[in-house]
Amino acid sequence: MLQLIANIAVAAVITSVVEVFLITNITAITSFLYQTGNNSSAVQRFAFGSTISVLLFVLLGIILFSFIFLMTQRKTARDIETIASAVQQISEGDLSTKLDVVGEGELTEIAENINRMEKDIQELIEKERNSEQSKTDLITNVAHDLRTPLTSIIGYLDLLRKNRNLSPEMQQKYLDIAYNKSERLQKLIEELFGFTKLSYGKVNLNIAKVDIVKLLAQLLEESYPNFVNNGLSYDYVSNTKSQIIDADGDLLARLFDNLINNAIKYGKEGKRVKVNLRADKEIVTIKIVNYGYVIPEKELPLIFDRFYRTDHSRTTQNGPGGTGLGLAIVKNITDMHHGVVSVSSDLSGTVFSVKLKIHFEEGIENFESRNIESRNEEQRKHPGRRG
Ligand SMILES: Nc1ncnc2c1ncn2[C@@H]1O[C@H](COP(=O)(O)OP(=O)(O)OP(=O)(O)O)[C@@H](O)[C@H]1O
Ligand SMILES: [Mg+2]
Repeated sequence: MLQLIANIAVAAVITSVVEVFLITNITAITSFLYQTGNNSSAVQRFAFGSTISVLLFVLLGIILFSFIFLMTQRKTARDIETIASAVQQISEGDLSTKLDVVGEGELTEIAENINRMEKDIQELIEKERNSEQSKTDLITNVAHDLRTPLTSIIGYLDLLRKNRNLSPEMQQKYLDIAYNKSERLQKLIEELFGFTKLSYGKVNLNIAKVDIVKLLAQLLEESYPNFVNNGLSYDYVSNTKSQIIDADGDLLARLFDNLINNAIKYGKEGKRVKVNLRADKEIVTIKIVNYGYVIPEKELPLIFDRFYRTDHSRTTQNGPGGTGLGLAIVKNITDMHHGVVSVSSDLSGTVFSVKLKIHFEEGIENFESRNIESRNEEQRKHPGRRG
C-alpha cells in the first residue's frame, strides 16, 4: 500500500515538474514570438492560454502520469515476482536463496524479513542437528558410563559368590565397591529421568514460601564433605538473615545443588568457592563463584545447552565425569520461576548468577493450581528446606 502511494507520488511529482517546465517555456517562447510580430493562430492560442492549449496540457499530463506510474509499478511487480519465486524456492527447502531487493519501502522490508527468517531457520536446523549429535554422543557416553560400574559390580559380586572363604575384610571391601558403583548407577539413571521429566513439562511447580537464605546455607552444609574431599572451602555472604520468596523449594534445591557441585567439580584448583546472596526489593540475586579453570568465551553461550560439556571437560583424562545435563536443568528450573541465569568466566573467576523474583504475579503459565496453605503448614513444620 505504501509502495503504491509512493509510486503515485513519484509519478505526480515528475508529471508536475515536466508540466510546469513545458508551460513556462512554451508560454515564454510564444509570447516572445507574438511580440516579435508572429501572430499566427497557434502562437496566439498558446500565448493567451486558450481552452485547447489547457486541454492539451491536461492530456499531456495524464499521459505522462500514466506512463511514469506504469514504469514504477513495473519495478514493483518485478520485485513482487522475485519475492514470490524466492518464497516458492524456500518452501521447496532451498534455504540458500538470497533475496536482493534494493531500495527502501515495504517490499525491501519484506525481502529483508524473508532473508532474516531464512537465517533463523538455518540456525534452528543447525542447533537441532547439534542437539541430535549431542543426543547420540550422550547415548554412547551413557551406555559406556552405565557399563563401567555395572561391569565392576558384576565382577565383585562374582568374586564374593565364588570365593566362600574370603576374609571378612575382603568381603566388606568388595561389597563396598559394589555398593558405591550401584550408587553411581542410580545417580546416572536418576539424572537422566529427572531431565526428561523436566524437559517435557511433566514437572509441576509447587509454589510455597521458601527462605532462600536458609535453603542455600543448608545446601552448602550438606555439601561440606564434598568441599573438604576436594580441598576446598566456601564463603557464604548474604545481605540479609532471612528472605522469603515464592518458589518450589525442591526444584530450587536441585538448581543450586547443580551449581554448587559444578563449582566444586570445576573449581578444585581454586581452593575456595564464594556464594553471595543479595536481596533487593523485588529480586534476589545469588552468585556462585569458583576459581581455576576459565571457560573459553566461545563456549560460554553453549554450556546451558543440553548435553553440552566443554572441550576441556570432555578431553581431560580422569577429568570430572558428567552428562552435560546439569546446567540445562538449572536453566529449566530458573525459567520455570521466571528468573534469569547467566555466566561469566575470566581470570577473576567463573560466576554463575541466578536472579529470582521474590513474588510471583498471579495467573502466570506453568502454575499448577497451587495449594500454598498446606505447603505453608509443612514449611512451618520443617522450616528452611524444600517448601
Ligand atoms: N563452575 C564451573 N566452572 C567451570 N566450568 C564449568 C562450571 N560449571 C560448568 N562448567 C562447564 O560447563 C559444562 C556443562 O556443565 P553441566 O553442569 O551442564 O554438565 P556436567 O557438569 O558436565 O555434567 P552433569 O552436571 O550433568 O553431571 C561442564 O562440562 C563444564 O565444562
Ligand atoms: Mg554439572
